[in-house]
Amino acid sequence: MVVKTKNRLGFSLLMALAGILLGLLIQVSLAVWTESAGQAAARRELALLGRRAEEALRTRAAWEESERRWAAESGGQILADKFAAVREGDILLLVNPWNPLPEGYVPELTEVGTEGHRLDVRCAAAFEQMLADCKAAGCRPVLISSYRTQEMQQELYDNKIKRLLDAGTPAAEAPSVAAMSVAVPGTSEHQLGLAADVIDENYTNLDQGQERTATQQWLMANCWSYGFILRYPNGTTDLTGIIYEPWHYRYIGLQAAEEIHRLGLTLEEYTALRGGH
Ligand code: DAL
Ligand code: ZN
Repeated sequence: MVVKTKNRLGFSLLMALAGILLGLLIQVSLAVWTESAGQAAARRELALLGRRAEEALRTRAAWEESERRWAAESGGQILADKFAAVREGDILLLVNPWNPLPEGYVPELTEVGTEGHRLDVRCAAAFEQMLADCKAAGCRPVLISSYRTQEMQQELYDNKIKRLLDAGTPAAEAPSVAAMSVAVPGTSEHQLGLAADVIDENYTNLDQGQERTATQQWLMANCWSYGFILRYPNGTTDLTGIIYEPWHYRYIGLQAAEEIHRLGLTLEEYTALRGGH
């Protein structure tokens, strides 16, 4: 009887000890998992923020300072009211090869320019003003692409692949090569209604030569003050997944555009700074 009680006591103690050990093990595992998940996120953020960590930290400090300034100055609000722009929400939505449009995304569109072009109602007035001011400065901007449906994007993408194949690009490579200049359907900013391709009437090629035109020089220098950015700057393909396009402008609102222009960032980097994606 005494032996049995001792055995039971010993068993209970053993079980309690095992319970404590198991609890400790779970806690340690969770801590390790959380740390590695955090480290992975930090690594990704640094990779997005720039090629060098030091530069990334400088950028972050400059952005934080800028955020403080925008918050402190009522000028931010005055500027934001200029085109009745919405600062928050999906106006800053990151759409790229790794971030497709949200399922069922339907923008509210309105006509801009001529020939049935349409843009999101939130950026149409700013866009029209930008083009009017560009013309007033003596340039000849021509809007050649604005909102695209999934079907339109598919047609452009398929055409691009066909042209690449005709030019001798191996079939296995054609889709990924095409995707660097015509976004895979479902991943184009044109489907947001917040992007527009503008070229110069005197130079209509969609190539790097476009950057030397008076229109692009003016737009690159001034688009930020209308809430637009040159979305795919030279040398940023590793971040954006898209070739240099000195004609594709994206609306993101006045504050974000001013900050991106001043800090020399891509939307990918800016989004990372804001803690998204
Ligand atoms: N040309 C850009 C990447 C697009 O097709 O959206
Ligand atoms: Zn475009």
